[in-house]
Amino acid sequence: MSKMVIHGGQKLKGEVQVEGSKNAVLPILTATLLNSGISVIKNCPRLRDVDVTLKILTKLGCKVKFEGDTVIIDSSTINSTDIPVDLATEMRSSIIFVGPMLSRCKKVKISFPGGCEIGPRPIDLHIKALRSMGAKILDIQGGIIYFNADRLVGTDIHLSYPSVGATENAMLASVFAEGETYIHNAAKEPEIIDLQNFLRAMGAKVTGAGTGVIHVEGVGRKLNDVEYTIMPDRIVAGTYMIATAMTGGETVIKNIIPEYISSITSILIEAGSDISISRNELKISGPKRNKAIDIVRTLPYPGFPTDMQAPLVSLLSIADGTSIVIETVFENRFKHVDELMKMGANITVEGRIAVIRGVNKLHGATIYARDLRGAASLVLAGLVAEGETIVENIYHLDRGYERMDAKLTQLGAMIQRKD
Ligand code: EPZ
Repeated sequence: MSKMVIHGGQKLKGEVQVEGSKNAVLPILTATLLNSGISVIKNCPRLRDVDVTLKILTKLGCKVKFEGDTVIIDSSTINSTDIPVDLATEMRSSIIFVGPMLSRCKKVKISFPGGCEIGPRPIDLHIKALRSMGAKILDIQGGIIYFNADRLVGTDIHLSYPSVGATENAMLASVFAEGETYIHNAAKEPEIIDLQNFLRAMGAKVTGAGTGVIHVEGVGRKLNDVEYTIMPDRIVAGTYMIATAMTGGETVIKNIIPEYISSITSILIEAGSDISISRNELKISGPKRNKAIDIVRTLPYPGFPTDMQAPLVSLLSIADGTSIVIETVFENRFKHVDELMKMGANITVEGRIAVIRGVNKLHGATIYARDLRGAASLVLAGLVAEGETIVENIYHLDRGYERMDAKLTQLGAMIQRKD
C-alpha cells in the first residue's frame, strides 16, 4: 500500500500553486450531461475522484479527453442510465449524477454513494428534494436505487439542512423542469456559485447561489456548448497555509480567492501567523509557536469549513495552550486523533467535541490515514514531528490533493512517497 515517509523539522519556504477545486469540479462534470454537446473544463485537478467521475461519464456514453488540466467532454450521446456500482461506491459525490440524469434521461440506476467514512452520509435530503419535483423511487434493492422522473416540475424546496450535495442535485434537476424552482436554506458554499456560473454559461437560468435562496427557471432542453475554468481549491489553499503556520515557515500561496478562505485566514492570524493578501495570492509567515484557540466550531459556509478541521487539529496539537474543536457538520470526523495520539498528541474526543492540550513536540511514528482530510492532517503532523513519520494508506490523499508530496518537497519538506 502507498505510504508517505516524512522527516520532520523543516520550515516550509517558497511558493505553491493551488490547483482547481475538487468540490467545484465534481458537480460541474456531472452537469455536462445536461448539454448534449461539447463541454471544455479548464483548471481541472488530477485527482482520483475526478478520474472516477470521468469513468462514470464514459460508461454512460460520453467521450472524454483529459489533456494537461483541460477536460473535453462530448455528451451528445448517452447510451446507458446505469451508474456502475464499483465506481459509484468509490466516492460520495456519485449521488450528484441523479439530478442531471433525471433531467436528461428521466431515469437512473445508482447505488448508495461511498466516500470518506466520516458519518452515515445519508441522502434523505437529496431524495426529498427530487421527490418534491416529481421524481419517483421505483425500487431499492441491495443498495441499488432505481429513480424515475417522467416529468420534473419546478417547486419550492425547503432543505432542513443546507446540504451542499442536496443543493447541487436540486439545482441540476430543475434546469429543464417545467416552471420555476426555489431552493430555500440552500448551501452557500463557493462551489455552489461555481456550479451556477457553469450552468449559466451553458444557457441555464439560475440565480441566487451564495445566498440562502437559489432560483431556477426551467429552460427548453437545449443548452449551448461551453468552455469554463474551475475556481481554485480553497481547502487545498487552507491546507498549505496550515502547513506553513505549523512549521513556522514563510510561503506564498498562489491562485486563491481571498474572500473564500477568510475564516481560515482569521483563525491562523489568531493563532499567531502574519498573513498579507494581494489579489489572488497570499503570503503567510508562521509564528515560532502557535497559540491555542479557545473554541473552533465547524459550520456551513461562511463558517469555518469542516474540511479544514483535521489539518487544524494537527496545528492545535502542538500549540501553546488548550483548544476545543466542535465538529458540527459530520458525525464521526475525528479518526485522525487516534493517530496523532501515537505521535504524542494529548487530545480527548467526546462525540463531536475534541479537547486539544497543546504539547511541545510530536515524535515520529507509523500512522494510518483513514479519510481524505485526516490523511492531510497526518502528513502535516509528520512535517513537525521529531524523527521519521510513516503515513500508511496515503491513497486517501489522492482523492483531494494533487501531488502533495511534490509540492511539499518544493517547499523544503523532507518527504517521500513510496508506492
Ligand atoms: C460536500 O459533501 C463536500 N464534498 C464535503 O467535502 C464537505 O465536507 C461537505 O460538502 C460539507 O461542506 C463534495 O462536495 C464532493 P453535505 P456533502 O450534504 O455534499 C448531512 C472533502 O473532504 N446530510 O453538506 O456530502 C450529512 O450527513 C469532502 O472534500 C444528511 O443528513 O455534504 C452531513 O452530516 C468531505 N442528509 C451534513 O448533512 C442528506 O441527504 C453535511 O453534508 C445530505 C447530507
